[in-house]
Amino acid sequence: MFRPSLLVVGLAAVSLPAVAEDSFDVEGGFAAFENLFGVTEGMRRNHTKGFCVEGVLTPEDSAILEFSNSPMFKGASSVIARVSHKGGKSAPADDKYGLLGLSMQILTSDDDLHVIAMNTEHFFPVSNSEAFIELLRAKSSGGESVKAFAIANPSLRKYSEYHGGLDKTLRPYEGTKFFSVNSFLLVNEAGEETAIRFDFRPSGEEGIVVPTHPNFFLENIQANIANGGVSWDMVITLANPGDVVDDPSVQWTGTHTEIVAARFTAKTAMAENDGQCDEINYDPLILSQGFAPSGDPMLEARSQIYAHGISQRLSEKE
Ligand code: HEM
Repeated sequence: MFRPSLLVVGLAAVSLPAVAEDSFDVEGGFAAFENLFGVTEGMRRNHTKGFCVEGVLTPEDSAILEFSNSPMFKGASSVIARVSHKGGKSAPADDKYGLLGLSMQILTSDDDLHVIAMNTEHFFPVSNSEAFIELLRAKSSGGESVKAFAIANPSLRKYSEYHGGLDKTLRPYEGTKFFSVNSFLLVNEAGEETAIRFDFRPSGEEGIVVPTHPNFFLENIQANIANGGVSWDMVITLANPGDVVDDPSVQWTGTHTEIVAARFTAKTAMAENDGQCDEINYDPLILSQGFAPSGDPMLEARSQIYAHGISQRLSEKE
C-alpha cells in the first residue's frame, strides 16, 4: 500500500505531513477556508455537513486485473463512506441543488487500505492548489476580486461554462455521480503503470422517496436502502495517449476505454455521531497495492491539508 505517512488510530487513518511541500502553505490554505465559510468547531472546514454510509465493495469486470493488482478488484472489501455537501457552511439545505462529495475508506480482505474522496465536479476550476487557495481568498474579498482572478485564470471560465450547462435537478446522494477529478496510476503485476480517472455512477435509479426538507438526505438514503438497495458502479477511465494527467482542470474528451471495475453497495447509513466516518481522514494518497499517485501535485497538497484538518477538529472535540 502507498501511504504518505500513516498513524492508525483505531479505524481512523491519519496521515501526517512528513515532508513539507515547498510551495503549499497548509495553514494559510486552511485559514482561507475558515475565512470564506466560518468555523464550525470540531467539524471539517470543507464538506462540513455530511453523514456516514457503510457497505461493501465487490469486484465486477476482471478486465481491470490486466492493469491493476489491487486486492480491491480480487475480493469483497468493507467500506466506511461519508457523503457530504461541498463547502464549509454548517447547514446547507438538502432540498436545494448543490455540489456534493462521496469519500470512502476501503478495507480489503487482506487488510490493505484504500481511500477515495470524490465530488460532483467533472473537472477542477483551477490547475493547482495554490490557485485554488487564491480563488477562495478572492471569493472572500468579493465579486471584483473573483472577476480579476477569472481574467488571470482562464480555466475558471471553462469550468463555469461547462458546469453551468449541467442538469441541476435535485437528486439525493444515491442518485448522483461522483468524480475522482485528480488522476491516479494503476499498477499491474508486472509493474506497468496506466494513468486513470474514475467515477462512481448510481447503478439504479434511486431518487427522492421521502418528503423533502432541509435535512431529508439521510432519511431518503435509509428508505432507499430499506427498499432494496443503493449502489454505485466504480467506472475506471483509462487515459488516452496525450491526455493531460497532472492537471485536474483539463477534461479528458473523446472516446476512452472504460472498465466497470467494482460496485459499492450501501448497507446502512447513519448520522456522523452514530457512525465511524467522522474520525476518518479521507486522504487521497492512501492507496492500496495496485495503485500509485499520478504526478499531480494537488494530491500531495490535499493530503497535507486533510491531515491538518483532522488534527485540528479532533483537538477541538477534546
Ligand atoms: C487544492 C485542492 C483542494 C483543497 C485545498 C481541498 C481542501 C479540503 C479541506 C480543507 C477539506 C476538509 C478536510 C478536513 O478537515 O478533514 C476537504 C475535504 C474534502 N475534499 Fe477537498 N480539497 C481540494 C481538492 C479536492 C478535490 C479535487 C476533491 C474531489 C475530487 C475534493 C473532495 C473532498 C471531499 C469529498 C472532502 C470531504 C472528505 C470527508 O468527508 O472527510 N477535494 N478538502
